Amino acid sequence: MNVLVTGGMGYIGSHTCLALLEAGFTPVIYDNLSNSSVKVLEQLKAISNYDFNFIEGDIADTAMLESVFRDYNIPAVFHFASLKAVGESTEQPLRYYDNNVSGTLNLLTAMDNCGVKQIVFSSSATVYGDPQYLPIDEQHPISATNPYGWTKVMIEQILNDWCLANKNNLAISLRYFNPAGAHQSGLLGESPNGIPNNLIPYIAQTAVGKRDCVNVFGNDYNTEDGTGVRDYIHILDLAAGHVAAFSTHKEDNGSFVYNLGTGKGYSVLEIINAFSSSAKVKINYQFAPRRTGDIASNYADSSLAEKKLGWQAQLNIKSMTDDTWRWQSKYPNGLE
Ligand code: NAD
Ligand code: UD1
Repeated sequence: MNVLVTGGMGYIGSHTCLALLEAGFTPVIYDNLSNSSVKVLEQLKAISNYDFNFIEGDIADTAMLESVFRDYNIPAVFHFASLKAVGESTEQPLRYYDNNVSGTLNLLTAMDNCGVKQIVFSSSATVYGDPQYLPIDEQHPISATNPYGWTKVMIEQILNDWCLANKNNLAISLRYFNPAGAHQSGLLGESPNGIPNNLIPYIAQTAVGKRDCVNVFGNDYNTEDGTGVRDYIHILDLAAGHVAAFSTHKEDNGSFVYNLGTGKGYSVLEIINAFSSSAKVKINYQFAPRRTGDIASNYADSSLAEKKLGWQAQLNIKSMTDDTWRWQSKYPNGLE
């Protein structure tokens, strides 16, 4: 069965393409390369010995999407394509609403025009806004603290309404906690443009000598060591979550949401120490003021995914830091 993977050249989409292939699906990648390299295709082939179909295109281009749906006889879409930098979204909100929300509306229109009725959407724990309780389950109130987060909230709502309007439609929103790690081959991983916003890529670049020192944003939070606590989930577990969700629901209709996390939180200092052990180097860090908008702790209640999808994260923090280091040390500058 062919499936379209929008944003399939990116960090999470590319790993999910491998998981889909392994599960017997045939991913067709659709990406405008705005935040990824065409060299990802060679890496995918080196890992899987399979030549993935790739179409360079934008989700804003309804006509191109429609021709791809028809040419490849696509019944389902895995929708990763999105801009995702929180800080940038506060500076360029219209660009974010346009790319993410209007882009998704175009995609759904093209799907409707071609009779494509199933979508799995990359949502985020960011839709919980400031947590009111922990661990966060799917019943937690929805909110956002920045335009990027609002695009996820809006798209989830659009998918709900899309399913209400047509009882044959299926939409699964997967709310990721903090994706981390890389493919165990060391051939595929995350390579953010410019200075990384997220903790693990920043630590990885410090370990490899590209950055001098990790700024630890806040050491006076109400956590065990005073630094922020997050639920890091291995990219391979996350990819497996997509296969489990779609395989479970592919005969169903309606909209579904699931948290994908491990349920366990790690502090910034714990992550720095874990990475230091994996890389066998000392990682310099200094305490810096809290980052605006950050919260003390965040971790998932993923019991719904466990119960309904039979999915549970298998890989621990050591796998995440070992695998990130294997990738980062092999490709210090990413694939470029
Ligand atoms: P990424 O930037 O590595 O991948 C996104 C891909 O989408 C890129 O290859 C980019 O070129 C492509 N793209 C962007 N806009 C497009 C458009 N208009 N048309 C076609 N292609 C387009 O990001 P990622 O980390 O792999 O994230 C994938 C999805 O998961 C995104 O929706 C993101 O918001 C969501 N998500 C990511 C995280 C995270 O920490 N990485 C956490 C929660 C949710
Ligand atoms: C961030 C986004 C969130 C998004 C997620 C995707 C913000 C405020 N939140 O989440 O919306 O869904 O990425 O993965 O940007 N930290 C440091 N030093 C650094 C970087 C981070 O100390 O250089 C700390 C942070 O304060 C936090 C933890 O590390 O406690 C994790 O940060 P990060 O990787 O950016 O993820 P989130 O803030 O959880």
